[in-house]
This record gives sequence, C-alpha cells and structure tokens, in this order.
Amino acid sequence: MLERSDLADNALQCLHDEDYDRPYNLQNLNADTLIFTSGRDGVSLDGDWNFCVDLLDTGLRQKWFSMLPQAHEDKTEPWDYDPYEGETVPVPSCWQMLKEKWYFFEGSAWYTRAVDAEPLAAGRRRFLRIGAAQYDCKVFINGQFLGNHYGGSTPFCVEVTEALQPGRNWLMLCVNNTRTLDRVPMRNTDWFNYGGVYREVALYETPSTVIKGVFARLDGEGIAVDVETDGPASVARIRLPELGIDQEVVLAGGKGRLDLAVRPELWSPESPKLYKLTVEAGGDAICDKVGFRRIERRGTDLFLNGEPLFLRGISVHEDDETKGKCTSEEDLRRRFADARDLGCNFLRLAHYPHHERAAEIADELGFLLWEEIPVYWAIDFANPATRRDAENQLRELIRRDRNRASVIIWSVGNENPDTDARLEFMRGLTEVARAEDPTRLLSAACLVNHAKLKIEDRLAAHIDIIGLNEYYGWYEEEFEELVAIGRNSNPDRPVVISETGADGDHTQHGPEKGLFSIDYQREVYEKQIEILSRLSYIRGISPWILYDFRVERRQNVFQRGFNRKGLIAADKRTRKPAFEVLQGFYEAQKREVEPA
Ligand code: GCU
Repeated sequence: MLERSDLADNALQCLHDEDYDRPYNLQNLNADTLIFTSGRDGVSLDGDWNFCVDLLDTGLRQKWFSMLPQAHEDKTEPWDYDPYEGETVPVPSCWQMLKEKWYFFEGSAWYTRAVDAEPLAAGRRRFLRIGAAQYDCKVFINGQFLGNHYGGSTPFCVEVTEALQPGRNWLMLCVNNTRTLDRVPMRNTDWFNYGGVYREVALYETPSTVIKGVFARLDGEGIAVDVETDGPASVARIRLPELGIDQEVVLAGGKGRLDLAVRPELWSPESPKLYKLTVEAGGDAICDKVGFRRIERRGTDLFLNGEPLFLRGISVHEDDETKGKCTSEEDLRRRFADARDLGCNFLRLAHYPHHERAAEIADELGFLLWEEIPVYWAIDFANPATRRDAENQLRELIRRDRNRASVIIWSVGNENPDTDARLEFMRGLTEVARAEDPTRLLSAACLVNHAKLKIEDRLAAHIDIIGLNEYYGWYEEEFEELVAIGRNSNPDRPVVISETGADGDHTQHGPEKGLFSIDYQREVYEKQIEILSRLSYIRGISPWILYDFRVERRQNVFQRGFNRKGLIAADKRTRKPAFEVLQGFYEAQKREVEPA
C-alpha cells in the first residue's frame, strides 16, 4: 500500500524505506518448531499455486500479503501484483526449470494458494510443514506474518492453529534465493542456485499434545528411545511389536527416555533389517521404521556392528536435468540402482541435506550415507548470525534423519580454509552435532595442506573421520605429490577420500584426448585407484560424482553450464568409461573383504 511515512512530509513508506525487510527476518521457524511427521496423515498442499517473481521486494514494500481478493472493478488501489490471479506454478518445483525467463532469476518470489479449513475442535492443533524452500521462506496467512525460515534444504514447521480460520484462508510464501555474504552457503558454490518451494507442503492436525521428536537407537547392550512432546500428556507409549515392546514412559517437561534391554537383529547393508516403531502420547501418534546398528572408529579403522568397514562410495548432488533440485521417488531409486551397479555400499549426499526419502530408501535398500550441511568454501565464519544459521540447519538435519540407520556420518563442512575463525565456527558445529546425536561419526571434507604435501587440518582433532578432497590428475598435475602425501601423512583417524575425479564431456563436443575427454577421465581414475589403494589409513572413497550436474560457473565449450565430472552424464543413462574403472576396483575390493 502506498503508505505515507513519517520520514518526511513528502515521503512514501514503500519507496523510501530500505529497512523494509527487517521485520520479516525473525528466523523463528527452526529446529525447535519442527514436529515429528513420520507416519502422520497430512493434507497435501502440493499442486498449482499463484506465482510471481519479485526482484525488488515490491511485495514486502507494498505489503502484497495484506491484500484480500477483490473484483477488479471494486479495486481502488493500483496494485503492482494481485496474488489471487495471474501465472501459476506447480509446488514442489524450482522456478528456474519452469520458464526460460526465470532460469537465472535470483531474488524473492511469491507463492499464493487458498486453504479451506474445517472448524477445529477444541484443544486440537494445526501445523504447516514445508519440506524445503530455497533459501529464506516467509510465511503469511490471511495477511498475518507468522515467521520465516533460513536454510535451503531442511524442513520447517509453523503452528497455524490460531491463524487458520474456518472456511477460506489465503496462504502466502515469500521465498528468496539471493546469495549473500551471511548465508550458508555464501555467494559462491559449484552447484546451481535453484530457488523455490521444491519439496512437499502439507498441513497436519494433532490433539493438544503433539509429538515433536523421537530418537531410537542402540545404546550399550540394548535400545534407547527418546520422546519429546509439547502439550499436557504426562506419559507416552512406545511400541516395537516385533521386539515385544509395549511400554509406557513418564514425560517430564514433555520429554521421556525408555531404555530397553533387548537385542534386535542388527541393520547392515547386507541385511537392512527395519523394525516398526510407534509412539503415542495424549492421543497423538506417529510411526516410523527404524534399523539398529553400531558405527565406530578405532584408530584409523572403521567398524560396522563390530566388523571392519571400507566405504565403497560415490558422491551425489540433488540435481536433475529437467527438475533441478526437485527429487522424485523414481529419481532416487535410479540413483541407488546406479550406485549398486557401481558396487557401492556408501553415498556422500553432497553438499546439503537431500530429500528425506533418500535416507529412508537407503535404510530399505542397505546403503550407508554421509549427510552434510552446506558450510561450503568461504563462509562468514566470524558472523554470529551465520553461525546460528549453520547450527540450526545442522540441528534440523539431525532431528529429521537421526532415526535413519543408513546415516553413519554427519559432515559439518566442505573445503573450508584452515583459519582460526573457521576452526572456532566448525568446532562449535561438532559440539552441536555431538549434543544432538552422540551415536554417529562426524566428518568434514578437508583440503590437503599443499605447502607441506600432507593431510593436516586443525579441524581433524574435532572430527572422527577426515574427509579429504584431492584432485590429482585434474586441478593438481603431479600424481607424485599424491604419493608424497601418502608418505608424509600419518593420521590417527580414518581418512575417506571424499572427492577426487575429472571432467569428461561424453557428447560430440568432447575432445578425443586430454582434459575434458572421457578417455582422460578414465586415465585419472586408473591412476588415482592405483595410488589410493596402497594407503592403509584410507577407509573409503566417494569420488566426484555420480552424475553430471548443472552449475552457472562452468561455461567452457565442454562444460556448457554443467560440471561434467559425472561417471554418468546428466541424462542419468549414458555411462562413461571411468564408471567401469571404479566398478572394477570396488568388485576387487569387495572380493578382498568379503571372500565368497
Ligand atoms: C570441489 C567441491 C565440489 C566441486 C568439485 C569440482 O571439491 O567440493 O563441490 O564440484 O570440487 O571442482 O568439480
């Protein structure tokens, strides 16, 4: 609205106030407002929403969210956008993939849809859950600002019990994907900056007690189950029928913990055994399928359920040639099928939390996962707001996936410089992770100390596995240096080569020989494997990367807007020769570890 402002007699609030967005950046939708949704029947709000890009934040300046539907002839204000008419987009989606004119759009965009609600019985509650929105998502209902969420790859919830009225409501989301100095990641990434509400949106109704968190895992010789609720219930009932468990736990301050002296069949990639878990409290109920396993490190070795473990991995982005960062069941299952063909037991889900179905399917199929938050390259490590954002994204990831047996590693960063500010920031992240979940191993993808040709990073003392990104044969020419690193390094904990690889353009544009040829990519894999297989402290590798993926910063004649280090092209069908090289190594490695 063209409100007058008190800045000056001739001032207009919506044109002269550059501090317009401060009231809408509370970041009050965070890990603490999540509710547990596994097994709940929600009402899906996916489908067509009205949509408008808003490069200059005119929507916040003019308060589009305060508009109500009006017949055109009744309008008395010349609004610059009417949220109740015009273009629509499907939710979930990434706007860049929908129309050419939005391919490089970076800024705010408005999503609007009607929500018709029945009257809510006394004591009942309602929650809106958004699976992910890239990056900042502000939530409005019937013109009321409910809060916003920072972080492009984790779910968030907002209680709408009061805001949603019986009858017709208008739900508006303002999503902003601008890269800024204080965000996580910052401004420069080697993956495409998609924007939008790109995972599912749903509405949940609960009794006055809502189950917010459940965490089931092996503990000592038995099982521990933590329950967190919000509401009047004083007890919760926990059932694991196949283990003969049907037990109450007292809730103090909404929280309770049950220690069970049972010995479940252990989950492993070879035998991905899952148990049905249900929790009830005050009439609220959830259910989940959980696997029980133990991941440990002793010295430079890894153990799964007491057995030595080597991680035969591959890295993957959440990226699709046509859907962008949107993931489908089919896309996920193809990813795991290709990883299985490659001989993998492990995937590094880079560089941000992937869709929750990824870990659920990995639980079902038997894969081990590295999950991470996008503390990537340069971050404003000295900024308290940035640290709060990173810690919150980590908490949201852990609370979302801590019941997933497949997840064995939480990673707190990728290729960050070894500075004092970064060390303080990342040490803080490791403390958050261990407080949230003491059962998993921590890692980060570190860089080689090229000055000393050594694996050396001060963060190593705070993590369990040293992830190491090295690109000998690509960014680093001399393979002899990789041999020297092997000679010079004596890490006291396991090392996983979290990235290595080379680009290969499989198309007719690709060169026959040399850099960017698929033949050279194959050579790099052969040489890397020949050296890495000789280093005893390397307990896994997750080469970069399963599929070619979209990225703005790769524009040479062979890349053409894609990073082409994939072992499979962006069509997710065309395999390159290097695929078989890695496949052969994993087959031999498997025979060595698991003789027939
Ligand atoms: C880095 C980085 C990746 C990037 C890769 C590359 O290691 O972690 O995100 O895509 O190198 O240069 O291809």
